[in-house]
Amino acid sequence: MESNIRGIIFDLDGVICFTDIFHYQAWKKMADNEGIEFNEKINERLRGVSRAESLEIILEKVSREYTPEEKASLMVQKNNMYRELLATMTTADLSDEVKNTLDTLREKGLKLAIGSSSKNAKFILQQIGLGDYFDAVSDGTNIQRSKPDPQVFLMAAEMLGFAPEECLVVEDAEAGIDAADAGHFHKAGIGPARNYGKTEFPLNSFADLLQIF
Ligand code: BG6
Ligand code: MG
Repeated sequence: MESNIRGIIFDLDGVICFTDIFHYQAWKKMADNEGIEFNEKINERLRGVSRAESLEIILEKVSREYTPEEKASLMVQKNNMYRELLATMTTADLSDEVKNTLDTLREKGLKLAIGSSSKNAKFILQQIGLGDYFDAVSDGTNIQRSKPDPQVFLMAAEMLGFAPEECLVVEDAEAGIDAADAGHFHKAGIGPARNYGKTEFPLNSFADLLQIF
C-alpha cells in the first residue's frame, strides 16, 4: 500500500472509458468536410489536449490562415458530431473491471476524483452511469490552461482537500503524465502512457491499481 496516497485523480477519456474513437471520428468528419488531411497519427497528438489546441494541431497542415470565427465554427461542428456519438453511450460502456476496481479503491478509504480536459466530462459520466459517483470532478469547464499544465489536477486535489503529493494521477496521455509531474503528483500510466519515462506506476490494465493499494 502506498501509505501517503489518499486520493486518486483519474483522467476520463482513455482511462475510465473509451471516447477516443469518437473524438477521432468527429475530427475526421470535420477535416473531410474542409478538405484537410487528418489521420490516426495526427489524432494521437490530440490525446489529453484541449479542443482549441487540438484544432491548431489539425490546422498545422493547412497553408491558409483560418479566422477566429472560422475556428470557432469548426470546433462547434466537431463538438456537435462528437456529442451525437457520446449520446449513444450507455452504462454498457463502463466495464465491470473499471467499476469493480473503483468500488474496491473506495472501500479501501481512498477519495476518487476526475481530472479531465474535456468540457463534455459530466455528460460522459452521466451516460456511463457515474454522474454522481466521484468525490470531485475537475474538467475543461473549470480550467484556463489544459494539460500539460497541471491546473486541472491541482483543482481536483484542492476539491478533495489533499496536497498533490497525497494524490495519484491515472493517465493514458503523455501530456497528462507531464501535467501530473509538473504538479508534483504521483503518476500511473495506462495504454500509451504506460511506457512513458515519467510514469511511476505502469499499469497493464485498470485493475492493476489494486496492486498499488
Ligand atoms: C480530452 C481528450 O479528455 O479532452 C482530448 O483526451 C480532447 O482528445 C479534450 O481534445 C477536450 O475534449 P472536449 O470534449 O472538451 O472537446
Ligand atoms: Mg485521456
